Amino acid sequence: MSGNRRQGRKLWRDITLFDGLETLPEPMAVIVEGERIAHISTMAGVDEAAAAGCEEMGSGGVMTPGLVDCHTHLVFGGSRADEFEKRLEGVSYEEIARTGGGILSTVNATRAASESELFDAARPRLEALMRDGVTTVEIKSGYGLTVEDELKMLRVARRLGAALPVRVITTLLGAHALPPEFKDDSNGYIDLVCHEMIPAAAEQGLADAVDVFCERIAFSVAQCERVFEAAKAHGLPIKAHAEQLSNLGGSAMAARHGALSADHIEYLDEAGVAAMREAGSVAVLLPGAFHTLRETQLPPIEALRAAGVPMAVATDANPGSSPIFNPTLMLNFACTLFRLTPREALAGMTAHGARALGLSNEGQRLGRIEAGAPADLCLWNADTPAALAYAVQPGRLRQRVVNGVVTHG
Ligand code: NIG
Ligand code: FE
Repeated sequence: MSGNRRQGRKLWRDITLFDGLETLPEPMAVIVEGERIAHISTMAGVDEAAAAGCEEMGSGGVMTPGLVDCHTHLVFGGSRADEFEKRLEGVSYEEIARTGGGILSTVNATRAASESELFDAARPRLEALMRDGVTTVEIKSGYGLTVEDELKMLRVARRLGAALPVRVITTLLGAHALPPEFKDDSNGYIDLVCHEMIPAAAEQGLADAVDVFCERIAFSVAQCERVFEAAKAHGLPIKAHAEQLSNLGGSAMAARHGALSADHIEYLDEAGVAAMREAGSVAVLLPGAFHTLRETQLPPIEALRAAGVPMAVATDANPGSSPIFNPTLMLNFACTLFRLTPREALAGMTAHGARALGLSNEGQRLGRIEAGAPADLCLWNADTPAALAYAVQPGRLRQRVVNGVVTHG
């Protein structure tokens, strides 16, 4: 993460504040000091002594925590516009994958690309997320599928975080698809992931977490479990793409291993919901993939809600199942497609998104607006927080603050 503007004491007045979980009932004032949120008060309660000497940042508008996009595949080579057309003609995502297209077509293009080509292609995608309020983004590997190509992707993700004012969390997704050179030897490929990829990524400090794709077109529950054991042996937190196309029980297994999150989960059953509740795993909802694949099976929102499983919302930005680089559109999709309330959708892209990345604990405190937390904030031209989910309207971001530094506006 790099910043470029002066830090100091900054004051916003008369704002409608969504703190990551709730909208506060009256207009508020917020003071940021250096990298942290220093004071939050009602307008009537502003301590004018504390306000003296602050830079006045303006008044009015809606303030939210900086958006946390907790699931993306932003680094990739090539395009899948041809596959989009095939799907429009009626060929399914699964059929395309089984015939060597889909993820594997992106693998070919990603292997062929240099690190700087991948960086240059990913940068505008990330900038699009930032212009729509993202201050923390997770970026997965998973289109390299050799040790060197997976590390290359993770290095690109780290470089993006160093070059731009955004927090980048990297996730090793070696177990995303079976590469052609391991055709008929999926266990051999899982050996490579466990014995070479994970140790190398961990030693080089390139991965903050490890993910798997648990699905009949990818890896079995038992294979994913081996990956989790290797990740845990290297001290890395885990998460899973699970129950996206079928119900294999991957989410429950991931939860039993203490996963930060299970993602997609359209086919999650009651037992899976219970396992996630028990483990405190976050349910990451990806309405962009649901929309793009014209899925009809809805994730079990009511059961997750009733169980109190925190629900995050993310873009899943990737070249195949969700070529959508627009986080606030996902707030709208989460409401219209999954029937989340606007409050739930916003919490999903702030407090619960941070939790899905392990960034909501006492040490990190991202995704919330509270005294002492890092000052990652967005100020929006909107009347109410719900309006951010209601209207699909790019360009509403008035200011974006990362670690106390204004990086937009
Ligand atoms: O999150 N489900 C698997 N992985 C990605 C899709 C990747 C792709 O199609 O390129 C997802 O949907
Ligand atoms: Fe994904």
